[in-house]
Amino acid sequence: MTTVITICDTCKAESRDAEKQEKTDGEVLAALIEAAAKGVQGVTTRRHACLMGCSHGCNIAIQAQGKLTYVLGRFTPDQAQAEGIVEYARLHGESSKGQVPFRLWPKAIKGHFVSRIPDLPASEA
Ligand code: FES
Repeated sequence: MTTVITICDTCKAESRDAEKQEKTDGEVLAALIEAAAKGVQGVTTRRHACLMGCSHGCNIAIQAQGKLTYVLGRFTPDQAQAEGIVEYARLHGESSKGQVPFRLWPKAIKGHFVSRIPDLPASEA
């Protein structure tokens, strides 16, 4: 089953200088995640405008059918964080319920969890 990384591509850091930075921080992070996810089995990416966590961007969500969904934020658009997000998504994909043991969490995603959402029961999906 595929785990999808949804990346907010409209997130902007407070320190962003709109005159000097053509792209939003979310767009930069999305490009880094997309590059890091290339060729990774069981992981896909998509972009979405505003995940409604604007005050603590950059934000992403990690989802798969029938598994726990995780929303993470407070990312800066850099390579290490992008690679950590993709590795966490890969581990999420390998887990039957989407619950990755803490000991396996990539360092880059620690401290970035915002919320965890259980999957819908089959009767309500
Ligand atoms: S702009 Fe990214 S969460 Fe709102």
